[in-house]
Amino acid sequence: MATSALVATALRLVREYMRASDLAVAAALLFACSALANRALASSRGTPMLWPVLGMIPTLFANLDDVYEWGAASLARSPGGTFPFRGMWLGGMSGVVTSSPRNVEHVLGTRFANYPKGPYYRDRFAELLGDGIFNADGDAWLAQRRAAALEMHSARFLAFSDGAVRRLVHGRLVPLLTRVGDDTVVDLQDVLLRFTFDNICAAAFGVDVGCLADGLPEVPFARAFERATELTLARFVVPPFVWKAQRWLGVGGERELASAARAVREFADRTVAERRAELRKLGSLDDRSDLLSRLIIAEGKYSDAFLRDFCVSFILAGRDTSSVALTWFFYLLASHPHVESRVLADIRGDVAEMDYLHAALTESMRLYPPVPVDFKEALADDVLPDGSAIRAGERVIYFTYAMGRDANTWGPDRLEFRPSGG
Ligand code: HEM
Repeated sequence: MATSALVATALRLVREYMRASDLAVAAALLFACSALANRALASSRGTPMLWPVLGMIPTLFANLDDVYEWGAASLARSPGGTFPFRGMWLGGMSGVVTSSPRNVEHVLGTRFANYPKGPYYRDRFAELLGDGIFNADGDAWLAQRRAAALEMHSARFLAFSDGAVRRLVHGRLVPLLTRVGDDTVVDLQDVLLRFTFDNICAAAFGVDVGCLADGLPEVPFARAFERATELTLARFVVPPFVWKAQRWLGVGGERELASAARAVREFADRTVAERRAELRKLGSLDDRSDLLSRLIIAEGKYSDAFLRDFCVSFILAGRDTSSVALTWFFYLLASHPHVESRVLADIRGDVAEMDYLHAALTESMRLYPPVPVDFKEALADDVLPDGSAIRAGERVIYFTYAMGRDANTWGPDRLEFRPSGG
């Protein structure tokens, strides 16, 4: 009998003898058996459960409120600090989560070329970052990396950014905190975010956006940047068919994202155009040392779009990371007075050294890393140093938060805030 006849007979039998409820019961049984088998496998290996059809999503949602602690505890139980993950069926998302330093070194260093950010990442950041360094791979990334390294390590830029941060601290931050005094409550996280935003805009664009100005005003560019970042990050949790449909229809968060990202780009475009006009008018930008001006002068070969995307990426890179780092740092100082005293003594001593301050800052970022988790996508099949097989297109999620709290690396008192072990 031909295959088509066989299929037709099977379909006829299913239609005649099976009802929808039979199919539903069979599917439920299959789901339950498969879930039990997966659960047994996961507990024998010490790794988190992968649900049939839904992959890791139910487990993730169950732990969403405490996802970093859950991740760190799961990795501590998993052999070698690595476990496999899978998204929903047909979602095409799978790979490993790891806190193994050897794996991380392999992905970010030794086999760097095989682990770009990849299309998943780039798709989600496209509106906000365009082709900026934070969203680029391959040659586009290399060109910006070279330009950034050249300018940022120059003595001129270092002196400029040193001066800019000093002006901001002494001119705005310290007066603000002095005014607040001991009796008033202030949202330090907001103040520090304003501080790092003003600082990075000065370094990247050479403009004072004034988030820390008197009265802590609402600055439209900062607001647009904040919303565009939040809504971009939402794309990492909302299923793609939802946000892509919203984008296509121009509704919901996607509509707001489009307008916030447009506002960010317009601000950056305007700043680039004004700086070019200044160069034409004055014949030089010798008085300016910000990144944008240096790039305009440097080679004269960068397009306006390149300059815009470059600066926007810089703002994203430097803004939240530094403010989150500072917020946790002050939180830890407030709850560890003996460390605060030593930091103060260090600052009042030899300013060139400040080893203890440095140790306190890095210790604080060990416990509360500003980028607690990140990922890369494999270009070709690979095997990680711990033996985990990675297929092309799969992701390696590296869990910095868990790395900083790993008992094997940091010992039994790993959760304590102890700069230089003291
Ligand atoms: C405590 C502060 C900071 C932390 C924790 C931090 C962390 C990171 C991390 C985790 C990455 C991603 C690395 C990767 O994907 O391979 C990164 C990239 C980057 N960061 Fe930072 N960052 C901080 C401050 C800054 C500041 C102040 C700037 C700019 C002035 C900056 C500029 C960049 C740039 C341009 C990149 C992209 C580099 C590349 O792709 O080659 N970062 N940073």
